[in-house]
Amino acid sequence: MRAICCKTYDELSAYAADIVCETLKNRPNAVLALPTGSTPLGMYEELIARCGRGEVSFRNSSFFILDEYVDLPPAHTQSYNYYMRDRLFSHIDLPESGIHMLIGDTADDDAECDRYTRLLDSVEGGIDLLILGIGANGHIGFNEPSDAFFPDTHKILLTDDTVEANARFFDNPDEVPRFALTMGVRPMLRAKKILLLAYGSGKSVAVAKALNGPITPLLPASILQLHTDATIVADEGALQLAAR
Ligand code: GLP
Repeated sequence: MRAICCKTYDELSAYAADIVCETLKNRPNAVLALPTGSTPLGMYEELIARCGRGEVSFRNSSFFILDEYVDLPPAHTQSYNYYMRDRLFSHIDLPESGIHMLIGDTADDDAECDRYTRLLDSVEGGIDLLILGIGANGHIGFNEPSDAFFPDTHKILLTDDTVEANARFFDNPDEVPRFALTMGVRPMLRAKKILLLAYGSGKSVAVAKALNGPITPLLPASILQLHTDATIVADEGALQLAAR
């Protein structure tokens, strides 16, 4: 896994947007998987602007969400379904048929996970471009530190530090869901290209371990070392502890 150091957040966002545009230029019907969180917001703004100027089109592409909170309906303003529509999908020329989401408020979580696993398996050749964020504890999507890697879509109990980190988005910390559904690591490793975005010194320990530490489910992002085209796109703060 290699690392690219960007001087500013804007540079990081533009670099990631460039890779998205290049992927779509080479393959207009590309399949992408995208993260939530604060880190990718600049990239989404950049993509919306470029789409508005006619520099990129999402007309024939399709997108997979990485994860979703259990029990939050898609219309809930803190759900990741809402986030993806609000921050990107509603502002670009992506057709509804190209949007693939995990639904958090289904009656049967296992059936929802199986549905998503089958859907991901049906992507011929794997996802073209997978973009990830990283939790301060090294999680990717909501693959939390654990004794084992989970290959396929699964339900997970969020760690206390993740609940705490994500409480900033909720009016009341007690409202933060304790469970989530997340894509597993198998479709991630099957992706043709992976970018992991990391911004700020709060991510420096996780980034250093992901890049240079042992491959372990205790630091889920470390599994990306097994991929032949995985790049961490980060700023100086996030890379300050990494050996380069
Ligand atoms: C959430 C998401 C992750 C994301 C992480 C980092 O936990 N499930 O996919 O990578 O947040 O978020 P931020 O970019 O806000 O630090």
